[in-house]
Amino acid sequence: MRVVTVVILLFFCKAAELRKASPGGSRSRMNHGRAGGSRRGSNPVKRYAPGLPCEVYTYLHEKYLDCQERKLVYVLPDWPQDLLHMLLARNKIRILKNKMFSKFKRLKSLDLQQNEISKIESEAFFGLNKLTTLLLQHNQIKVLTEEVFIFTPLLSYLRLYDNPWHCTCEMETLISMLQIPRNRNLGNYAKCERPQDLKNKKLRQIKSEQLCNEEEREQLDPKPQVSGRPPVIKPEVDSTLCYNYVFPIQTLDCKRKELKKVPNNIPPDIVKLDLSYNKINQLRPKEFEDVHELKKLNLSSNGIEFIDPGPMR
Ligand SMILES: *[C@@H]1O[C@H](CO)[C@@H](O)[C@H](O)[C@H]1NC(C)=O
Repeated sequence: MRVVTVVILLFFCKAAELRKASPGGSRSRMNHGRAGGSRRGSNPVKRYAPGLPCEVYTYLHEKYLDCQERKLVYVLPDWPQDLLHMLLARNKIRILKNKMFSKFKRLKSLDLQQNEISKIESEAFFGLNKLTTLLLQHNQIKVLTEEVFIFTPLLSYLRLYDNPWHCTCEMETLISMLQIPRNRNLGNYAKCERPQDLKNKKLRQIKSEQLCNEEEREQLDPKPQVSGRPPVIKPEVDSTLCYNYVFPIQTLDCKRKELKKVPNNIPPDIVKLDLSYNKINQLRPKEFEDVHELKKLNLSSNGIEFIDPGPMR
């Protein structure tokens, strides 16, 4: 009998503890499976929250929607129409359909990185004539034409890297658009995945003759299509491994990427660079020479042994 009482008492204590520990009870239950990852740092910001409603907030007089990591496959109809910034990173969106964003006429930035986008219909960005920033990196896009950007005349910042680009004749209009000198922040670091001859060539550096020749060759010699995500061979330390956030400030998040060196190709407009929890044990001279805007650099938990006096100059 006594044993049973003790067990029951223990049970009640446990239940009370649980109730105390969860101010947003439902939230912690939903997060249960992922809690290990999200609780690692002392930072209370939730990292994963599937099923939770999206957050709408105002920062410096601009309205944001934060709907990151919600397993979204589509844009929801009840989002406020006066949003200026839409954060939809790390969802499951596969297709950008015609006029999908047309209600959000004031939108200035749209972050769609780390989704599963493989198709963008030609009028997907219809109505976004205030859009300046579009993030499409880390997706599955193979082909895109300039046509889709007809609706975004103010676009000045476009991220396309880490997509399996098929550099064929079809891509010619997009590639020429990226190469116009004034478009210096459009499509940097994006590289071809196919055809084999153009693999790892940068979109911004390909000549149109190369594109159209290669297509003929590909058709003569079609390679078997491997299903699923193609293996992406990355250079040893390239900044495209990291996540790039544009709003509210230009941030490159390279936390926990097993980096042994400071990555190359850090976008020059980065203000905040997080290199914490890596394996960088040396800083080379002139390491941050091209990152003129850099104001915050986090190198904690790296085991740095040696700093050449050069890098910080
Ligand atoms: C640097 O990164 C570590 C680990 O991510 C974090 O705990 C710390 O608060 C950061 N420091 C600053 C000044 O942001």
